[in-house]
Amino acid sequence: MRALVTGGTGRVGSGIARRLEAEGYRVLAAGRRDGDLSRAVDARALVERAATELGGLDLVVHAAGDGFVPRVLEDVTEEDWDAALGATAKGSFFVGQAAASHLRASRGLLVLIEDVAAYQPWVSFAPHCAAKAAQAMLTRVLARALAPEARVCGIAPGPVAVEPDEVERRAAETLLGRVGSPDDVADAILYLARADFVTGTSLVVDGGWLLSETRRQREP
Ligand SMILES: NC(=O)c1ccc[n+]([C@@H]2O[C@H](COP(=O)([O-])OP(=O)(O)OC[C@H]3O[C@@H](n4cnc5c(N)ncnc54)[C@H](OP(=O)(O)O)[C@@H]3O)[C@@H](O)[C@H]2O)c1
Repeated sequence: MRALVTGGTGRVGSGIARRLEAEGYRVLAAGRRDGDLSRAVDARALVERAATELGGLDLVVHAAGDGFVPRVLEDVTEEDWDAALGATAKGSFFVGQAAASHLRASRGLLVLIEDVAAYQPWVSFAPHCAAKAAQAMLTRVLARALAPEARVCGIAPGPVAVEPDEVERRAAETLLGRVGSPDDVADAILYLARADFVTGTSLVVDGGWLLSETRRQREP
């Protein structure tokens, strides 16, 4: 099996890439140096390179993201919006657009790594929440576009790559009393890879964070 992982040099993406390799996938793990995925031309070049090097694509995981920066409302700039929308919203679309023919040929799967922020109005992260909501919609749009040959799903993680000094507080905000890991996200990807009747939906991997009472008034 052959996989491209964008954001494969980041905290979540590198963990996903390692796990896929351990499960027998051949993986191209891409970072920013492999192209700016907010640009259609770079997204297409990266996907074509991956398909050539790997001999096709069975799985594309889009874990590239940028612009997760807290800002009070008055301080949000156009640059903040461009960063948040770039790799997350535009990148999801252009990677999906470029990968469509390869995934149709292999009857493969595109997974967009979303965020519980798609469903939460965090005032300090307005561009990020909006970009994540856009991305969650693209999961559904692209699923319709690539069907019936290929599938598109989202995974909305909660706290899965948390700074060490934040672990205790973030763990207390989940129903399960722990933070997650990139491996928890990889488990969900491996499930989706074999779930042939699942498309156009997002799997929340958050330890119950969205449902927890303790975090109701909080933002990350
Ligand atoms: N961390 C969490 O707990 C958590 C929770 C929920 C959702 N998520 C989501 O998971 C995704 C990854 O998060 P992370 O924590 O792993 O972030 P991260 O450590 O900051 O990694 C971001 C990755 O995206 C790449 N990237 C950024 N902008 C790019 C661009 N314009 N073009 C191409 N690649 C670009 C980076 O490449 P370079 O390494 O070259 O800079 C890096 O590989 C994000 O969408 C995030 O919203 C994360």
